Amino acid sequence: MNLKNDLLLKALRGEDIERVPVWMMRQAGRYLPEYIKIREKYSFFERCQTPELAAEITIQPIDIIGVDAAILFSDILVVPQAMGLEVQLIESKGPYLPNPIKTKKDFERIRVPEIDETLFYVMDAIKLIKERLDNRVPLIGFAGAPWTILCYMVQGKGSKTFDEAKAFCYQEPVLANQLLQMITDTTIAYLEAQIEAGVDTVQIFDSWGGLLSKADFELFSLPYIEQIVTAIKSKAPTIVFAKGAWSSLNTLSKTGAAALGLDWCITAPMARQFAGSNITLQGNFDPAKLLSPIPTIVKETETMLKGFGKRNYIANLGHGILPNVPVDHAKAFVNTVKNFDYSKLA
Ligand code: CP3
Repeated sequence: MNLKNDLLLKALRGEDIERVPVWMMRQAGRYLPEYIKIREKYSFFERCQTPELAAEITIQPIDIIGVDAAILFSDILVVPQAMGLEVQLIESKGPYLPNPIKTKKDFERIRVPEIDETLFYVMDAIKLIKERLDNRVPLIGFAGAPWTILCYMVQGKGSKTFDEAKAFCYQEPVLANQLLQMITDTTIAYLEAQIEAGVDTVQIFDSWGGLLSKADFELFSLPYIEQIVTAIKSKAPTIVFAKGAWSSLNTLSKTGAAALGLDWCITAPMARQFAGSNITLQGNFDPAKLLSPIPTIVKETETMLKGFGKRNYIANLGHGILPNVPVDHAKAFVNTVKNFDYSKLA
């Protein structure tokens, strides 16, 4: 092991650190001209399925931006793909699943797959990335939370409300729970394989957790996240990012997760109050704020650091970086975290 920079892992263990670690959700992506060059030559799933390309894209933000962790280049939708659904990525529109799950009959088309037979290319990419990273920084693996994956499997495309996915849960709760359990079983095996291949920690993305009421989150999302964390936590620390689900931060803090991700709609003291003093918090700079002038980015990043304090904290955005963010604005955010005078903080 012996990582040269293990700030992220120390923060996940709640250890005392010299400074706060920083990375950005969706840091391997479209705001980088080096990524766009690769995108011109290969389709999205070609980029995911070719370990050489996935490795190059994963490492770009380490070399270009100087973040403290790498996150595997892949997508949460490789899981429904491995379960048997066709997933397309349509340029400038997003994901499209032409034959979504609507009825019991549709379950004939999906299964809990063998990870070795379906997602082997991810593990090949992880091994190559670990080799190329040469212990510079930790590597984060990831998967979608079962609720967020169900959203795409049922709705068939992106949505502001995921109303069809919700209708499915409310009209057919037994089927919904069956589907969520199949996704959970697949995800546990998938994350175990990622850890076996070399990732140092994993993040669960529940991007649409905040679309559910607290009661429905605790019915359709939380129990499955909890199963995943319980299965994984002895093997690697888990970060749970349930965007917008701030009303469940307290219950999430009891799942065994090492850290909870936050979006920008909650303040540091509120999040700390809900999540308790022991768990590590991660976030929560508004990604659109990276479009502000650089002096504003510096000032507001410092305000964020003062709000969270040095201990039990990982600096990040509150959701993925936007494609139109200038590279030097992303660098200003990261450098502000790296150069901050932490002696001023408790
Ligand atoms: O964080 C990283 O840099 C690692 C790579 C990563 C991607 N997707 C690459 C990607 C990660 C962690 C994801 C997760 C993901 N994918 C989520 C959860 C995080 C979130 O943003 O809420 C979700 C909901 C998806 C599904 C998805 N994939 C959407 C909605 C889209 C299209 C819209 C968009 O945001 O780009 C994708 C495509 C996708 N996944 C791209 C990238 C770099 C863009 C495709 C391209 O470059 O052409």
